Amino acid sequence: MSASQSTQDPVPIHTDVKSWIAYVGSSVQRYLPDAKTVEISFAHKTELAGRLFEDAYKEAKVAADEQKLDGFGHLNEVLRGLAKRSSTLFEAYAQSLHSVSALEEARVEFIGKKGELNLLTRYLGQIVPSGRTVVGPVFNDMKAAFTTAIDRRRSELELAALNVRLEAEREDLTLPPRFEPVGALHPVMQVFEELAAIFADMGFAVAEGPDIEDDFHNFTALNFPPGHPAREMHDTFFMKPAADGTRKLLRTHTSPIQVRAMVNSKPPIRVIAPGRVYRKDWDATHTPMFHQIEGLVVDETVHMGHLKSCLTDAFSRFFEVPTTESRFRPHFFPFTEPSAEMDIRCDRQSGKEGGGEIKVGEGNDWLEILGCGMVHPNVLRACGIDPEKYQGFAFGLGVDRLAMLKYGMNDLRPYFEADTEWIKHYGFKPWLLPTVTGGLS
Ligand code: PHE
Repeated sequence: MSASQSTQDPVPIHTDVKSWIAYVGSSVQRYLPDAKTVEISFAHKTELAGRLFEDAYKEAKVAADEQKLDGFGHLNEVLRGLAKRSSTLFEAYAQSLHSVSALEEARVEFIGKKGELNLLTRYLGQIVPSGRTVVGPVFNDMKAAFTTAIDRRRSELELAALNVRLEAEREDLTLPPRFEPVGALHPVMQVFEELAAIFADMGFAVAEGPDIEDDFHNFTALNFPPGHPAREMHDTFFMKPAADGTRKLLRTHTSPIQVRAMVNSKPPIRVIAPGRVYRKDWDATHTPMFHQIEGLVVDETVHMGHLKSCLTDAFSRFFEVPTTESRFRPHFFPFTEPSAEMDIRCDRQSGKEGGGEIKVGEGNDWLEILGCGMVHPNVLRACGIDPEKYQGFAFGLGVDRLAMLKYGMNDLRPYFEADTEWIKHYGFKPWLLPTVTGGLS
């Protein structure tokens, strides 16, 4: 500070934040011997504020003398002067910083946990309570003023940066659009959706179950006796045994979802359950993971006739032909009695050009598409349903082959090779959900 300035302005002017805080700190320290012990009267408080912040006090005293302010006004003037001094200084300081990171450093330096402004508050504990009520708010106001200055400068810098970017990034509206790649729904997922729509129309809800199952849901509850060869029929993938010797497994069919549905709800039950299933199989027509849809109806009077008409209807809708003729062949499943496999009439068009393609709903050939039957009383009982009162039908169909049939794919293997060209060709637009009335495919 030059000598000529100091004659005009006897009050020390602090031009940087550090010396200002140091000044405030030393003022407080100077006052401490009094402030530790003396209970302060109102007049003293004004005096106290003045002694703490001498320069602001002097300014305020002039104002007070001129305007004949009372004690309250006097004190307020002192504090307002101080606040003004602080915020002007903090604003100027923030303006001198030119990056967001510098602002952040300043924030930590002054109002961070060990920041200098924060450290001022350590004096508060040493001041008698009536003095604290004067000094405390001043410290808080100073901190708030500092935060305001930093935040304001930060938004200023951010806005400036944004403007620079907006200036630089000009859109050329004459360029042709760049195409965003759009995914496609796998035919298996499409068939799930189609069948869900068809069965929803007949009042079926969709049920789900876990891919990793336990022996109870996959076998025992479904009336597979322990050690029965039917368990081997399924070529099960087992997990490592747990400590208690039990082994989880990858479900070999969607039938465990029947069990979950029956255990978790009361009849009447009408659900379908689409899902992935797993068996140790790997050749041209079998993959170790494939897809099934399970169907289950439990009620007081359901019978095999309902099963047959329900499935026949569903398939003529699915293949979008007026009728599908079907044939039920006796079969064995532990969880249904009687059990059947269902075939639908088709034309394999063998010998004709384009041979190998299958037409559904006409011709002299039969195509096996699912297993079904009336739910075995043991299964109902295992799921807590009284077989004397209720009966039900169930079916399980292989979805992968249905999709092949409907959409003319003759090889199962590319299904799961994640070949984007294949999915581009055979996939479905994801936003066109199938509905019975609006069209399936
Ligand atoms: N779960 C049987 C299978 O995977 C199919 C089936 C389901 C049969 C429901 C009858 C009833 O082969």
